[in-house]
Amino acid sequence: MVSTSLPGGTWTLGDLPVTRFGYGAMQLAGPWVMGPPADHGGALAVLRAAVEFGITHIDTSEAYGPHVTNQLIREALHPYPDSLHIVTKVGANRDQQGGWPPARDPESLRRSVHENLETLGLDVLDLVNLRLGDAAGPQPGSVAEAFEILVGLQQQGLIRHLGVSNATPEQVAEAQAIAPIVCVQNMYNLAHRQDDELIDALAEQGIAYVPFFPLGGFSPLQSSVLSTVAARLEAAPMSVALAWLLRRSPNILLIPGTSSTTHLRENIAGAALPLSDDDLAELDKIGR
Ligand SMILES: NC(=O)c1ccc[n+]([C@@H]2O[C@H](COP(=O)([O-])OP(=O)(O)OC[C@H]3O[C@@H](n4cnc5c(N)ncnc54)[C@H](OP(=O)(O)O)[C@@H]3O)[C@@H](O)[C@H]2O)c1
Repeated sequence: MVSTSLPGGTWTLGDLPVTRFGYGAMQLAGPWVMGPPADHGGALAVLRAAVEFGITHIDTSEAYGPHVTNQLIREALHPYPDSLHIVTKVGANRDQQGGWPPARDPESLRRSVHENLETLGLDVLDLVNLRLGDAAGPQPGSVAEAFEILVGLQQQGLIRHLGVSNATPEQVAEAQAIAPIVCVQNMYNLAHRQDDELIDALAEQGIAYVPFFPLGGFSPLQSSVLSTVAARLEAAPMSVALAWLLRRSPNILLIPGTSSTTHLRENIAGAALPLSDDDLAELDKIGR
């Protein structure tokens, strides 16, 4: 275990210590997150490498594949080390076209929690995010009914901690008025800075902010400023993007996705890249 050498150190999600450098498992499923991976053995190897490198936070969902990513995690890593915390999410299904239709009615939420427990081979889920909005992003509207279902499952002992994902600041506040949350998982990266105020507000409350698509997701981050800074530092743009996120706020936890052990290793090294105040000021112009 080399957790002490991972960039960013650690954070405590509720009462669960995790490395700030985590791993997002979505990209392990087949194309567009549907079906099995082309390289089954390679997918298992990435997951095992993540844990060997000291990562103790893996992000997943029953909707990835569907079922595929959770099954890969179980096959690669079960029985899980005590230090490993697997974060999952509920609230979206998959359709025949690979879409992500919302599934936040009580029955779907309960079923999804039980499916996550079964496919991951767990008795209790460490952290469940309620995924809100749709593929276009967060959408306004009350979260109370859906969130209360998860609170009920938490009270039954099936979930340790709760979070929300793809949420507006109003929905974050509404959930917090019902029960404590330990994280918000929204889209955010160097070029998408819509949650700047929310990140700062959560940092003051000791709540983690976990950006999805930290590298741009399905379309890699592209910016002439990013390329210029990366060239000056003789680093990959992805390294700069991850190092910037770690510097942006102490409550930011990274879950970059990759299906490649080489990329995983590069990303860990890259996130440790030192950025000067001048670099930060220049990068700050990208998303503003
Ligand atoms: N809550 C939500 O609604 C939601 C939505 C989306 C995602 N997520 C979570 O967020 C995690 C991260 O998002 P993501 O994986 O979609 O996007 P991402 O981390 O922004 O980018 C992943 C992409 O970057 C590529 N990549 C990674 N490292 C690279 C490197 N060093 N060099 C070149 N290419 C590299 C990967 O390709 P290779 O496989 O070739 O490395 C993959 O295509 C997901 O795994 C998932 O757990 C949550």
